[in-house]
Amino acid sequence: MEFGVWSKSLASLEIDCLVLGVFEEGELSGEARSVDAATGGRLRKLLERGDFAGRPGDTLLLGDLPGIGATRVLLTGLGTKKLFQRKAWRRACQAALAHLARTRIASCAIALDRPEAKQLDDYYFGRQVAELAGAALYRINDLKTAKKPPAPALKRVLAGPVRKAAAAQKGFTHGAAVAAAQVIQRDLANLPGNICTPSFLAEEARALGRRHGGLKVKVLDEPAIRREKMGCLLAVSQGSHQPPRFIVLEYQGAKRDEPPVVLVGKGVTFDTGGISLKDPPGMDEMKFDMSGAAAVIATLTLAAQLRLPLNVVGLVAAVENMPGSKAVKPGDIATSASGQTVEILNTDAEGRLILCDALHYARRFRPAAVVDIATLTGACVVALGHHHAGLMGNDEKLVAELHAAGLRSDDRCWQLPLTEEYGEALKSNFADFANVGGRDGGAITAAAFLGKFTQGLKWAHLDVAGVAYQSGAQKGSTGRPTPLLSDFLIQRAAR
Ligand code: BES
Ligand code: MN
Ligand code: ZN
Repeated sequence: MEFGVWSKSLASLEIDCLVLGVFEEGELSGEARSVDAATGGRLRKLLERGDFAGRPGDTLLLGDLPGIGATRVLLTGLGTKKLFQRKAWRRACQAALAHLARTRIASCAIALDRPEAKQLDDYYFGRQVAELAGAALYRINDLKTAKKPPAPALKRVLAGPVRKAAAAQKGFTHGAAVAAAQVIQRDLANLPGNICTPSFLAEEARALGRRHGGLKVKVLDEPAIRREKMGCLLAVSQGSHQPPRFIVLEYQGAKRDEPPVVLVGKGVTFDTGGISLKDPPGMDEMKFDMSGAAAVIATLTLAAQLRLPLNVVGLVAAVENMPGSKAVKPGDIATSASGQTVEILNTDAEGRLILCDALHYARRFRPAAVVDIATLTGACVVALGHHHAGLMGNDEKLVAELHAAGLRSDDRCWQLPLTEEYGEALKSNFADFANVGGRDGGAITAAAFLGKFTQGLKWAHLDVAGVAYQSGAQKGSTGRPTPLLSDFLIQRAAR
């Protein structure tokens, strides 16, 4: 896909499609007026007849208007003028690109009014256009045997108006990289558990390492994991025929001795719950329980792709959580890599068990910051729903940095209070702590458990159980929080 800024007069632009905005008041947006004039007021007339209401999400494709260079015009609703902000712009842009993706249109010029610069500057404008285009063209890697519909034709997207073309251009480049990273996350997460196993995930990481210069990938197999004394990770894995993998991705973009950012991903390729077996409804969705891992792998490829001047390490703990005669049982006690012992009261609280060993492994990199990403708790979904990921940590500056990255990238997260008291719920009579703390505040007690393994580190935790995938008719990976993580790294690289 090629992105650029349109500069000459819209009316004379020779292109497959002009994308123009219409407000609910029946008013053409600024950019659309010159085009309307060139057509002799055809658009105006159409609006006067009430054929297009301009509601957010509405689109209408018009062919062969006289007087202009484009063969088609696509109208997209901007909503009411009063409510026209970044969100409405995004919605209009999204709807237009989705419409284009269903046609054979190969080139377009997007010419919508833009929200104020302080809501969306030229750089983020470029990024959003490229990210939205990537998302609109995404197709699930399905295993359906029927003939596939042809791939979308869209190859060239021009957008504007912009003040600083260089900033927008940089935004396009970064946005295209974020979109490509999201495709990696989504493709991995959408695969079924029988294909995307821990070994498969490791092989895919290796393949991506070969494809991206500067990305080194090392894989620990079960004996190597044993040598690292990752007893909690192994306890989760022991019930499965699929051997575990611990994947280490290293991108060096700064001096060797510069402390890296370490991203840690939960890679449960399928979570049955183990002996504490889950209820059947919706259990298929537990193939998405490796979304954190997929986001980490995707974000590492982005760092390499953009050659960010920064060191980044990705750690992925990949296991399958199964019941069976070898599976870990409620009450079993495992010893973590840190030496602390854990009473496993619920085998369905497995994410924290693999993460605690991965977080301990992060120490050897003397990291500047550690962020773990995990579909960790249903409680987080109850607390926040599907718009915000849960955000917690032991370093307020790092937490604030991630929150800001979420806002800028429209991939938001919300902080939950991780104060000391929550750790008290994890008391055990038999081990240093239990792996569960009861139903109340479940997202926070899960984070409190991780906090026992991150003392002395600058650490934050993203619980993405509610945002990493969608259920229902639109079931599938969303590619979140790759935009947030990408923004976090891009901003760190810039400072
Ligand atoms: N993978 C699940 C969390 C989850 C639930 C993700 C729903 C997405 C949607 C995790 O391993 C889990 O099972 N957590 C338990 C913890 C409980 C046993 C303390 C949960 O949330 O029920
Ligand atoms: Mn579970
Ligand atoms: Zn899980």
